[in-house]
Amino acid sequence: MTKKELLADLEQEMIKDTTLPLQEARLVFGEGNEDAEVLFIGEAPGFHEDRLGRPFVGRGGELLTECIGSIGWYREQVYITNIVKRRPPENRDPLSEEIEAYKPYLARQIEIIGPRIIVPLGRFAMNYFLPDAKISRDQGKIFVVGKYKVMPMFHPAAALRGTTVLNQFKETFTKLPMIVSGEVEVIKPEVTQTKKSSEEESSQVSLF
Ligand code: URA
Repeated sequence: MTKKELLADLEQEMIKDTTLPLQEARLVFGEGNEDAEVLFIGEAPGFHEDRLGRPFVGRGGELLTECIGSIGWYREQVYITNIVKRRPPENRDPLSEEIEAYKPYLARQIEIIGPRIIVPLGRFAMNYFLPDAKISRDQGKIFVVGKYKVMPMFHPAAALRGTTVLNQFKETFTKLPMIVSGEVEVIKPEVTQTKKSSEEESSQVSLF
């Protein structure tokens, strides 16, 4: 089976899984190149995403798309998805049980795509990989989690709320081509400081 077929099957499986929370909203599975080197993972769909069935198509999405263009890439060459794949009511933060429920599907989606680098957008997506990380301290750093490099970034919506965060968001973006082209060795990969015990370490690795 091709990656495209595997992803299509996974999406169908999710649609049929009525035990998943937020059933009243539309499933926004994700989109992009199934062979993408970079996988962006946001929090959960919002109003516009729910309407169109596509991730990051509101103002935050426009910023994300613009930043992808600013480094000479195009949106279709990366893959974009969310940890929670249905819109929480009134765009509230996703609950931990919602994140937990969608987790096994996200893990399988990541495995199928097999990106070189995962970019969690915002603290919810970041904490999925790095439970103790802090977004303002750790955005733009490269962590090794299991077999993946993970570079958290601010959420585009946060970047739209203030110039300081916006500038940091744009600056962090400029690192991506270097990481993808293998020049990552120039940036010392940081093994997550969050691994305090072998128990925690194995729980992180088992995310994949
Ligand atoms: N915010 C997110 O985290 N994801 C989207 O898809 C849209 C807005």
